[in-house]
Amino acid sequence: MKYKNNRIGSAVLACGTLVGMLLLSATARADDIPPLEERLQLCAGCHNPDGNSVIPGNPKLSGLDAKYIARQLSDFKEGKRVSEVMASIIPMVDEKEFKPLAAYFSKQKRTDGVPEKADLVAAGKQIFDEGVIGTAAPACAGCHNEDGSGSNKFPRLSGQDPTYVKAQMLNFKNAVRNNDPKAVMQAVAKRLNEQEIEAVAEYIVTLKEAE
Ligand code: HEC
Ligand code: HEC
Repeated sequence: MKYKNNRIGSAVLACGTLVGMLLLSATARADDIPPLEERLQLCAGCHNPDGNSVIPGNPKLSGLDAKYIARQLSDFKEGKRVSEVMASIIPMVDEKEFKPLAAYFSKQKRTDGVPEKADLVAAGKQIFDEGVIGTAAPACAGCHNEDGSGSNKFPRLSGQDPTYVKAQMLNFKNAVRNNDPKAVMQAVAKRLNEQEIEAVAEYIVTLKEAE
């Protein structure tokens, strides 16, 4: 409903109408939460309808733990996780929508990915499975599982877009992304250099969900 262009002739009338309008617009806002299918169209533009984004830099949401997704959304909303793109989207989404959106994407099956630089995969596997001895970087597999499937504590990584993974690792390393509980990922990422980050991202995209 658009009241903006309404012209109200009489001041007396305006007063009563204004109260009514405020009440009306308050109800209108509560009812404004769109059905999930409609809201999903907004996300689909960047994350695909099934959460398996194919756009470099945009994360796959499929198969991520629902609580993890919901917390990231609320952190974007509160500015605790910084992303220019998601910051432009999240004001449109009501907090009440986070849980159903998270439940939907968590139930979608993660699709396989393709490495951008296949020659880095072997070096990446070494880091993922064993860590880096020199800097005491821990094995990613220790938390995210050998197949990258993750758990309700550690997000799924398998098949994730390498451009996104690289960017997030650098964000953790530089504390640009600093909403990770106990700063665990910031501590991990600080122990890797850019070459190691690139290699591990190229390995992560090759990880596949077990049938
Ligand atoms: C215009 C493109 C765009 C739209 C539309 C969009 N996103 Fe995103 N989303 C992104 C990008 C880019 C990122 C990566 C942010 C970063 O760099 O930290 C992201 C990140 C996320 C993340 C964090 C994923 C992770 O693994 O931590 C979640 C959750 C998310 N988006 C959910 C949604 C939902 C739900 C919607 C629909 C309401 C939506 N997004 C709409 C582009 C978009
Ligand atoms: C001690 C446990 C632990 C280890 C070891 C670990 N991680 Fe993580 N990782 C986490 C946790 C916890 C999160 C989720 C942070 C949050 O909830 O904000 C995470 C998040 C991530 C994310 C963000 C996922 C997304 O969807 O945005 C990436 C990428 C990642 N880890 C990569 C790695 C890599 C690569 C390694 C190995 C070099 C690694 N992790 C080692 C615990 C760990």
